[in-house]
Formats: sequence, structure tokens, C-alpha cells
Amino acid sequence: MKLAILGAGNIAKVHAQTVAAHPHIEFAGVADAVPQAAEALAEQYGTQVLDSEALFTDKDIDAVLIASSTATHADFLEKAAEHGKAVLCEKPVALDLERTRRAVTTVQRTSIVCGLGFNRRHDPQYQELKKRLVEGHIGNLETLMIISRDPAPPPVAYIKGSGGLFRDMTIHDFDMARWLLADPIREVHATGSALVNKEIGAAGDIDTAMITLVSEQGRLCHISNSRRAAYGYDQRIEAFGSEGMLRAQNEGETPLLLMREEGELSAPPKHFYLERYMTAYRRELDDFYMAWKEQRDPLATAEDGYQAQRLAEAASRSLHSGQPVRLSDIN
Ligand SMILES: NC(=O)c1ccc[n+]([C@@H]2O[C@H](COP(=O)([O-])OP(=O)(O)OC[C@H]3O[C@@H](n4cnc5c(N)ncnc54)[C@H](O)[C@@H]3O)[C@@H](O)[C@H]2O)c1
Repeated sequence: MKLAILGAGNIAKVHAQTVAAHPHIEFAGVADAVPQAAEALAEQYGTQVLDSEALFTDKDIDAVLIASSTATHADFLEKAAEHGKAVLCEKPVALDLERTRRAVTTVQRTSIVCGLGFNRRHDPQYQELKKRLVEGHIGNLETLMIISRDPAPPPVAYIKGSGGLFRDMTIHDFDMARWLLADPIREVHATGSALVNKEIGAAGDIDTAMITLVSEQGRLCHISNSRRAAYGYDQRIEAFGSEGMLRAQNEGETPLLLMREEGELSAPPKHFYLERYMTAYRRELDDFYMAWKEQRDPLATAEDGYQAQRLAEAASRSLHSGQPVRLSDIN
């Protein structure tokens, strides 16, 4: 597979690492709106700088990885569909639901292989949790708790173009909730505040949220978000069922435990997504490659992107109205 990366920012650098290390993928080049950014990344991996428009008509390129700013994703997805390129697209597909639906439908009208960057589905701990849920180790799943806190908020300039906490950050948790519950969500009730940084509030967003999801079968899911955790990237999941409980824990910088007279001391969680989910990014890329080879859907599809975004839209409406929102009203 000859693969080009669109974007040379934070997440593109993570993907560049996994692409360069994949035994069956050739890193065909990188394109960015800022030429110096593309040049620096291309130089680091010994690849070429490409033009973000021209690469779609380049017959030598089989696949594109969209890791550019959110506002570019829908257009690039449609270009990949038009030119028959396999595509792995970072979340979210677009800032609004209507644009997301259009891009996803365009992709679905073609036979291209299209994956969505819900990397957490590929994390070994969460995959084990999912496997044990499916195998019935905790009986009937009743409640799911997802705790997802970043170590520190991004710059306010990023927040302004991000679509807000639910579309930018909670979207991963909405996807995890859908994937683990495996039971359509009926209702969303969201609450939120700007407690971490008042400027985030002034920009019209929140940095702290608690969301309750209710599934068709009455299963309950609680998502707790913060843009800041003093002790690092806090990523935990607890699934509670009729016969037991499964818990995915934070992974420390080291598993070492220090015990002294005053108590126990363990290392803080791995700092952020780069450290915590590097294995997941590698496995995400490999799943995309295998899907392309076998002409099947990757683990997370464009439709999953749309469905997670419906939840983000419902949460947004619930936050503003103060009322629970039925998902059937969000289309
Ligand atoms: N899955 C994950 O874990 C994860 C983590 C971080 C970011 N993301 C997503 O990845 C995307 C990028 O986030 P980031 O943190 O890397 O942002 P960033 O600002 O660091 O990088 C975005 C890059 O896209 C470039 N760009 C903008 N318009 C372009 C265009 N038309 N053509 C080519 N390049 C263009 C910018 O110049 C910039 O270098 C966002 O949609 C974000 O939600 C996903």
C-alpha cells in the first residue's frame, strides 16, 4: 500500500511514525497547508512533500490518511471517494451533522475502504474488556462508566475551531459507549461547565462535562470529561453487569510501586494520547491495511463517525436546553 498523509500537525506526526514503521506500507508523502510543516515531516521520514489537491489524482497512491484540521475532513473524504482511494480519516468527520451525513453518504456510494480514527477501539485493554463482555464474563451489562480527562486544555485558538468539547473530545467516548453497549442509544442528557479556563467559557465552550446515555434496553452509561487532570491523562472504563464487573485502568509511566512508612506511591498515568495509545494507533493502521487488502470494513467506519456525531449533537442540544434529548430527534 502506498499511503500519503494529509496534515503535518500533532496527530499526523503520530501517524507518520506508525506508517513509517509498518512493514507493508510505503510512506508515499505528506501534504500540509503550511509547506514548512510538510517539509519537516517529510525530511524526518525520508519521504516527499505532496500537493494536497494533486495527490488525489496521483495513480501511484493507493490510500490517504486524513490528519489535517477538522474543517478539511469532509472535503478530503469526498475527494478520496471520487478518486477511488482507500481512506483513514481522523475524527470528527465535520463540525456539523448535515455535512457529516453528506460526506459519509458519498463514501458509502462507492466501494472504497474507509476507516474512522476511533483509535481507542484498538487499545489492547479495551479490546480485552469488549471480548469479555461479549463472552458474558459479567453476565448482562447494566451500567458503563467512562472517565476521560486530558492532562491540560489545548490553546483557546484550537478550541474555537474544534466544534466544542462534545464533537472534539467526547466523540471518542461516545464511540466507546456505542461500541461497548452494543445496544442503540435512546436518550442523551448532558451537563457541563467551564471550570478549568474561563477563556474557554468566553469562547462559548465548556471544559468539564457529565453526560448520561440511556440505551434502548435501559442500560445506562455515564461519561465524565475534563480538559485538565493534575495527575495526567485519565482514561478509565468500568462495565458493571449482573454477574460482575470489568475495569480498564490507567496505565502508569512505569508499573513500579514504591512503598514507604507514609504509604504507597505509583507513577502517574502515561502523559497523553501519544504515550497512552501508541499501540492502538499502530493496530488501527494495521487494521486499515488489512481491511484494504481483504476489501472489508475496518473496525470503525465512516458510519460510526456519523453515529458518534449524532450523540455529540444530542449532547450539545441537551446542554443548551437543560433537558434530555431523544436520539430519534437527531437526524
Ligand atoms: N484520534 C486522536 O487521538 C486524535 C488526536 C489529536 C487530534 N485528532 C484530530 O486530528 C485532527 C488534527 O488535529 P491536530 O491536533 O493534529 O491539529 P494541528 O493543528 O496540530 O494539525 C493540523 C494540520 O493540518 C494542516 N492543514 C490545515 N488545512 C489543510 C489543508 N487544506 N491541507 C493540508 N493540511 C492542512 C495545518 O496546517 C496543520 O499542520 C483534528 O481533526 C483532531 O480532532 C485526533
